[in-house]
Amino acid sequence: MRSDQIRQGRLAGERSADIEHFLASMDADRWIAEADLLVDMAHLLGLSRQGIIDEAPARALMAALLDLHDNGLPVEAFDERFEDIHAGKEAYLIDRVGEDFGGRLHMGRSRNDEVATCVRIRLKEEILALARSLADLRATLLDLAARHTETVMPGFTHLQHAQPTTLAHYLLAYEQAFSRDSARLREAYARVDVSPLGSAAFASTGFPLDRDYTARLLGFSRPAPNSMDAVAARDFAIEVLADASICMATTSRLCEELVLWSTAFVGFVRLDDAYCSSSSIMPQKKNPDVAEIMRAKAGSVAGALTAAITITKGLPMSYNRDLQELTPHLWRGVEAIRQSIPLLSGMIGSAAFDTERMAAEAGRGFSTATELADVLVREYGLPFRTAHRIVGRAVRHGSLDLATLEGAAQEAAGISVVGLGVTEEKIETVLDPRHAVAVRDIVGGPAPAAVAAQIDEQRALLVHDANWAEETGSALSSAFKDLILEARRFTV
Ligand code: ARG
Repeated sequence: MRSDQIRQGRLAGERSADIEHFLASMDADRWIAEADLLVDMAHLLGLSRQGIIDEAPARALMAALLDLHDNGLPVEAFDERFEDIHAGKEAYLIDRVGEDFGGRLHMGRSRNDEVATCVRIRLKEEILALARSLADLRATLLDLAARHTETVMPGFTHLQHAQPTTLAHYLLAYEQAFSRDSARLREAYARVDVSPLGSAAFASTGFPLDRDYTARLLGFSRPAPNSMDAVAARDFAIEVLADASICMATTSRLCEELVLWSTAFVGFVRLDDAYCSSSSIMPQKKNPDVAEIMRAKAGSVAGALTAAITITKGLPMSYNRDLQELTPHLWRGVEAIRQSIPLLSGMIGSAAFDTERMAAEAGRGFSTATELADVLVREYGLPFRTAHRIVGRAVRHGSLDLATLEGAAQEAAGISVVGLGVTEEKIETVLDPRHAVAVRDIVGGPAPAAVAAQIDEQRALLVHDANWAEETGSALSSAFKDLILEARRFTV
């Protein structure tokens, strides 16, 4: 294959392999190579439709592009002397059909709009794949929650036993967060879904391109409205990385809890062996390595976000080569989350929860003390602060039995709870964790009926989100299929 066709006019001499390697984006360009062929086909169809290119070169180019689409790009196209796949592919096409034909594809186009279009295409696919796996994860959490609306467990604040709740209530808390992640990604998708193609270097072009037509061919909602913004902007990538970072932060919290819950100290969960590793020296070990790697991936995704936003922050309008350095961070971040979410579904779905351990812990650490204080208020008329002080003082003395409570009431408030009518039986009922859960039956609470309502509501939202991902995904694949069909029709 010929040497770099782009340098030949203006620049002289050879470059060292070090410089070529430093400048090249070939590794990351593997992500967009397929998309780039679609972009070429759309651009070529557009050139032809507008009468900018003659039939003979257009057909020869289209035949070559279809061949690359069907059989893959040759390795030479990824040679680092071309810097990027756009130049490598153009060199290949010129080699194949001659410069008189092959040298006409890049009319009205720059690698700047080309790469931005490719990245947006691939990112849309990634968002949709992620949206589907988030929907699966949410379904797993909702199914599991539906089975555990009566499974009491301790809830924690500051990692101290706080109040009883249920496993369903806990799982739904995570599902809520993941449903917001889904919504954020859907909103981001709309901002990714505009076509830079036709913006050329930044000032668009004097060739009469039909940007609506090529945008439609490539499955975009519309052309990017400003050609300078179209090549310069990467906020769409930063936004997706931010959404991914937020989602991974939640994922990491859940992983941390799985790590904690699977310890001998806590013992709330046994992870399936498939998600664990052992030790090379300690034969008894079962370690939660998938959860640990996933917890770490959250850091990698946040790192990708930090890198991406920092790379853009000092760039003047419009395209700067720095933007090339951003793209690998995007793919690294996207890949980390795309691998994580399905594994998280599998790990949670296959985990065995020890409901007896949870029940045994649910009432520990005076976790029903709040309910006792509440009952002193609701049923015996004390101000909450007084009840809070009495119960707190009883806990200080180490017991919530009637005698201790009475002593605490005298000591901390100068009153008699026995005098108010509090009985041993009353205290016993109130201190039952199931009772504490059952009375928390307002919107959002852990009582089984309140949780059932949350499950219903979230299922409806999930159906909506899953449908969006399915419908948008199939519209996008049929746009690509139609484009290929159109390209084939063009060559016959
Ligand atoms: N490989 C480049 C990137 O990823 C493509 C655009 C190059 N444009 C240029 N003017 N050098 O950003």
